[in-house]
Amino acid sequence: MSNNIIELRNMQKYYPVGKDKLHVLKSINLEIKKGDFVMIMGKSGSGKTTLLNILGFLDRFSEGQYIFKGNDVTNLSEKERSKFRNTNIGFVFQQFNLIQNLNIYKNVELPMIYNNKYSKEEKDKKIKHNLDLVDLSDKINQKPLELSGGQQQRITIARALVNEPDIIFADEPTGALDTETSKDIMDLLKKLNNDGKTIIMVTHDPELLNYATKVVRLKDGVVVESEE
Ligand SMILES: Nc1ncnc2c1ncn2[C@@H]1O[C@H](COP(=O)(O)OP(=O)(O)OP(=O)(O)O)[C@@H](O)[C@H]1O
Ligand SMILES: [Mg+2]
Repeated sequence: MSNNIIELRNMQKYYPVGKDKLHVLKSINLEIKKGDFVMIMGKSGSGKTTLLNILGFLDRFSEGQYIFKGNDVTNLSEKERSKFRNTNIGFVFQQFNLIQNLNIYKNVELPMIYNNKYSKEEKDKKIKHNLDLVDLSDKINQKPLELSGGQQQRITIARALVNEPDIIFADEPTGALDTETSKDIMDLLKKLNNDGKTIIMVTHDPELLNYATKVVRLKDGVVVESEE
């Protein structure tokens, strides 16, 4: 078996726009190895989020083939897609996407409720372990808005980790943070990467490139450069 965790072959994505269709990703070929730290770069509108959402089973593509951990996942049902998403992938978003009226404990618990795999005790242990890992155990009973932006992003990372995915997808995870806080988040992602997680991240910020093992540059929906 190849050691690619992800492979796209000649993938096309069209969005319907009225009677027309907008060709937003064009003949994408991509190989990501286990343990890579991938940065997807490109101007606004170049298709970065669309690509990330397709790879993360959040969106469908129009043509081509997707091989995920050796499985052809091109034609999965919605139910199978949710299962792949839930068991293999953790998501981190620019705007955190925490639920404001739930406390930190409940927010971090959420992916395990959808997944319905762990006992109450196991869930409790995982929540505390991952909050420890991001160094925010003391915030367990607080609400998201009582935390700083950087702290909220660390909570989303704890949330992304509870189902023990081996891939983390992050769409501009530092986009809402200042330089210093961004560095904390990047260092945390790098630590996870060193511990074996594959990281696939979208960013505008060329300063962050030194964290990457692979850079994919998109221009108008085309991969113009892919370097290891
Ligand atoms: N649901 C949709 N329906 C129609 N067109 C869409 C949809 N989502 C995105 N697009 C279009 O697809 C193209 C790529 O969008 P995408 O969000 O992937 O860009 P991006 O590189 O992530 O941009 P940004 O850096 O601003 O986040 C854009 O032209 C956008 O307008
Ligand atoms: Mg985007």
